[in-house]
Amino acid sequence: MEAVTKNFFLFLSKSTLLNRAAQNWGEGIAAGKIIGGSDFQSSIKFIKDLNDQGLAVTVDHLGEFVTNASVAKERTEECIETIKMIASEGLDSQVSLKMTSLGLDINHELVYENMTRILEAAEEQGIMVTIDMEDEQRCQKTLDIFKDFKQKYNNISTVLQAYLYRTEQDIEDLNQYSPFLRLVKGAYNESPKVAFPNKADVDENYKKIIKVHLLNGNYTAVATHDDAIIDYTKKIVKEHDISPNQFEFQMLYGMRSKTQKELVEEGYKMRVYVPYGNDWYGYFMRRLAERPSNIVFAFKGMTKK
Ligand code: FDA
Repeated sequence: MEAVTKNFFLFLSKSTLLNRAAQNWGEGIAAGKIIGGSDFQSSIKFIKDLNDQGLAVTVDHLGEFVTNASVAKERTEECIETIKMIASEGLDSQVSLKMTSLGLDINHELVYENMTRILEAAEEQGIMVTIDMEDEQRCQKTLDIFKDFKQKYNNISTVLQAYLYRTEQDIEDLNQYSPFLRLVKGAYNESPKVAFPNKADVDENYKKIIKVHLLNGNYTAVATHDDAIIDYTKKIVKEHDISPNQFEFQMLYGMRSKTQKELVEEGYKMRVYVPYGNDWYGYFMRRLAERPSNIVFAFKGMTKK
């Protein structure tokens, strides 16, 4: 039953029609609840509020699978503007972005050109840029881009997904780059040919890669809402006397806000992923696929004045 619901929402997440309708509903429904605002400017107040509570942030301009070079260039300009505003507003925020939003599905050179401009701007301001990981089909290309840029820039990080069979090997292969990595379970609908179909196996692999990456001495962002994984991370860092400067927890904006604050009170570094923009529909459907009880939360949010 759980798998049917998950697939249903992942199917809905791809509907162009519903995506367009959601854009027309405007930001009112989702802003300040699961996303910042419809643009970065209107998200600043929410980010300041999080920073005031001791929560660091990473922002992501929603909108993936761009198939037009001029849109990919617009996305690049917007990202650079966001980086400048993070600095001028003195926000404690990094930037996350998807390679398909910079033109991964259009051509290779375009992504390199766009990414170079973003990394230059971010380096100037001392801001970290994390490449989100998309579906398995794009994983190798994304990691190749990460490796190329990591040789020139230190302010770049990426994501590995515990549900992929390949990830254990990727962790080892990337070790030579001493990478900052965000480790997640994985959010896309993947075939059992490439990903563990059972949740228990994903969780076991997640624990395994967290431990390996931490013990390799690399910075580890554990991005999860799962208490079992959070407790496991706390146990490993304690057992191996790992410095609080070598890891952080991350959660999505609007999810488990109370737990986010509790982790800060316990002395852990906690970063909140704040998406913004009109393209919130696909993102929202993926969150529902992960946890259908988020529907209750969503409807409460939608009717709240
Ligand atoms: P999961 O969904 O398995 O939930 C486990 C348990 O946690 C639940 O049974 C429940 O007890 C608790 N729980 C979960 N959600 C809750 C809620 N809202 N309220 C209360 N309890 C809750 N994916 C990807 O493929 N590429 C990427 O780049 C990223 N980036 C990313 C950044 C950040 C900051 C986060 C937090 C996540 C991502 N993800 C991602 C998404 C990730 O892969 C994964 O799909 C979701 O985080 C859901 O998995 P969880 O680990 O949270 O636990």
